[in-house]
Amino acid sequence: MKGMLSPSLMCADVLNLQSEITVLDELGVDYLHLDFMDNQFVPNITLDPDLIRKVKGIMKHMKRDIHIMAFEPEQYFERMEIGENDIVSVHYEACDNLHEVLAEIRSRGASPFIALSPDTKPEVLLDYLDDIDGVLVMTVYPGFAGRPIVEGSFEKIQAVRKLIDNSGKQLLLEVDGHVSWDLCAKMRACGGDMFVAGSSSLYQKGLDIREAVARMSALIS
Ligand code: DX5
Ligand code: ZN
Repeated sequence: MKGMLSPSLMCADVLNLQSEITVLDELGVDYLHLDFMDNQFVPNITLDPDLIRKVKGIMKHMKRDIHIMAFEPEQYFERMEIGENDIVSVHYEACDNLHEVLAEIRSRGASPFIALSPDTKPEVLLDYLDDIDGVLVMTVYPGFAGRPIVEGSFEKIQAVRKLIDNSGKQLLLEVDGHVSWDLCAKMRACGGDMFVAGSSSLYQKGLDIREAVARMSALIS
């Protein structure tokens, strides 16, 4: 399978979001990564649920890749209009009722993913393999763009890949955090399928987004 790109909207020019989204859509980018933060699970607030809902109306091909860094994430599903074609990642560390939350995502026609923070062991996934379509491996501590990669991230990607392959299930492995020009190919080689591209690559000053998307797509293909 070819590597898929998911540009992180929180890293784009927030004063021109509509044009930022449209250019990605026209370039044929697979997914748009939409970070939601509740200022409790992580000490930050980024894109709000109404914006995450409204972007659906301006995307023709691109699909939503929603990353919810919040406790009780199910409380936001209605406002975000979670539905067909959405990927929705919820944090293992933030949910007491993870089976129910994943089932609710699936009941809305969306693809449930479990997001793992850097300190969470891959083995926690073993109880949820039937509930999910993928895993979001955080290679930075969640909450802010521009953070450094966490020591051991490549081994973590490899371990999750091995766990997925041993399960015999067709699950996607998404990598989120410091997906940089010099590290993305190694992340792909370690077993990543989908890559969140933010301030460490696509959204660096002075880069033409069209060239950056073409370059990153080639590196992760
Ligand atoms: C961080 C977010 C990421 C972030 C990735 O918590 O989940 O989507 O924006 O961007 P960089 O490339 O800055 O790590
Ligand atoms: Zn994210």
